[in-house]
Amino acid sequence: MLNRSNGAAIRAAVSAVPVRKGAVLADIGFGGGLGLELLLDRLDQADGAAGVVHGVDVSQTMIADATRRFSRPIADGRLRLHRAPIEKLPFADGAVDAALTLNTIYFVPDLPAAFIELRRVLHRNGLVALGLGDPGAMARMAVARQGFRLRPVSEVIDALSLSGLVVDQHRRVGKGDGAFHLLIAIPAPR
Ligand SMILES: C[S@@+](CC[C@H](N)C(=O)[O-])C[C@H]1O[C@@H](n2cnc3c(N)ncnc32)[C@H](O)[C@@H]1O
Repeated sequence: MLNRSNGAAIRAAVSAVPVRKGAVLADIGFGGGLGLELLLDRLDQADGAAGVVHGVDVSQTMIADATRRFSRPIADGRLRLHRAPIEKLPFADGAVDAALTLNTIYFVPDLPAAFIELRRVLHRNGLVALGLGDPGAMARMAVARQGFRLRPVSEVIDALSLSGLVVDQHRRVGKGDGAFHLLIAIPAPR
């Protein structure tokens, strides 16, 4: 959506998600739905019908599009869609094994509030795959000048840390200084 490497970034994030039988997975800010599609594939490969993928987005348009596109997995109960913000997720404490949130935080004013909420819903052995475009590269893109909050990656890592999430891996997807940033974060030990 934002650049040509976005599909590769989403694929890299999904491949970082460990899937066990009955896993509860979420894509928060799923947009066009590629993450949902890939998470459903991953569940299928892992354990057939067990497990569930949750798609969360604030946009009614994205929810409506995904409702049409994914009618079968929704009917099968493998995919559930929720209209909700990352700051108020529709999950119980510790209910989510792995969450993706890719290209979403540009639209989130209060990062610690969002990350505390992510931490709340994450299982103690869970994982978050958070992706963002390189802020320097994005600052040169016309689309990103319209209402995007471009933060240094170090600020994002600090906000995760303040929220009880530790960055276990910082991967780059794509080439050069402008490569996409994929942060794999896990709950900090209590
Ligand atoms: C740029 S799109 C990214 C879509 C997809 N994750 C991707 O990487 O291609 C951002 C998505 O985040 C959603 N979004 C924006 N603010 C949000 C929030 N506070 N909570 C949840 N979703 C949000 C938007 O509706 C949109 O679908």
